[in-house]
Amino acid sequence: MFKAGKIEIENAVLLAPMEDVTDISFRLICRELGADIVYTEFVNSEGLVRQSERTHKKLEIIEEERPVGIQIYGSGIESMVAAAKIAEEKQPDIIDINAGCWVKGVFGQGAGAGLLKDPVYLQRLVKEVVDNVSLPVTVKTRLGLDTNNIKILEVAKRLEDVGVQALTVHCRTRVMGHKGEADWSWIPKIKETVKIPVAVNGSIMSSEDVKRAFDESNADAVMIARGAIGNPWIFLEAKELLRDGYISTVVDEELKIKTCLRHLRLAIEVKGNRRAILEHRKFYAGYLRGLHNVSEIKKALMVPTEYDEVEDILLNYLDYLTQLKVAV
Ligand SMILES: Cc1cc2nc3c(=O)[nH]c(=O)nc-3n(C[C@H](O)[C@H](O)[C@H](O)COP(=O)(O)O)c2cc1C
Repeated sequence: MFKAGKIEIENAVLLAPMEDVTDISFRLICRELGADIVYTEFVNSEGLVRQSERTHKKLEIIEEERPVGIQIYGSGIESMVAAAKIAEEKQPDIIDINAGCWVKGVFGQGAGAGLLKDPVYLQRLVKEVVDNVSLPVTVKTRLGLDTNNIKILEVAKRLEDVGVQALTVHCRTRVMGHKGEADWSWIPKIKETVKIPVAVNGSIMSSEDVKRAFDESNADAVMIARGAIGNPWIFLEAKELLRDGYISTVVDEELKIKTCLRHLRLAIEVKGNRRAILEHRKFYAGYLRGLHNVSEIKKALMVPTEYDEVEDILLNYLDYLTQLKVAV
């Protein structure tokens, strides 16, 4: 059972925080398709404290997407506490602390996975955040810095001791980045060490992986990241598989194309036409994967800067696919 504050969910399937991916539009799509909790992309604590407009925008959440967690990152105790208080004003359901980001710019400043260099300091930082906000605080972290420095059992215990309500473990080391297989076998050991709920993350790319991750790790929740990009039905399918033992939803070309367009319309509402359309280009490969004669369409979709043009291309393509089906 995944619990944090008022949230209590059996077999919880979560959408991971992903920079430049999990904005309101994508979070809404994933919630509609069955994600139990969604997270904002990570929000820089220094940016919040400096009142950067761009950073503050990342805190925006809306009622329809609840339950939602805001994730913050940073290395300074003072700025993280201040950032958590700013995030709290938006009243998310959870405040999540990033202690897992591997990228140089973040790690090098001692934030993200950089916090794993010193579990005592990480514990102090998290304690201060927990003590200064009234919302549930959770932490997303990794196994350790490298295979010779797996500190997750110590880290989990330290975080539980200061009041962290749940933990997500990306079962790779910092050195691995996003490569290689995540090692879920650490989850049962973590669950023997702490009583708080533990979510497993890493290498969960299909609904079958979700089921396998629950079965093999006995985690309280499964968190999906890349497996949801261009494939938000992973939540629906996973829920069906967990509940019924089989998947009944048929994800056909119409559902794929209409969801892709709806995602784009929502994104335009959030960030305006130009930015939304440019940023949406990274989703087409996922949404259109496996469809007939798709490479020309993917190329064509790299050109438009207006919604109507994108819609024309995709709806004409849908017509073509429908006719193809009738002909067969
Ligand atoms: C594009 C991208 C952006 C990410 N941004 C964040 C982030 O903001 N915060 C975070 O905790 N993890 C972030 N991650 C890591 C994911 O949440 C997740 O831990 C990682 O991708 C492993 O899961 P997967 O193997 O299912 O993709 C990001 C990953 C990707 C691919």
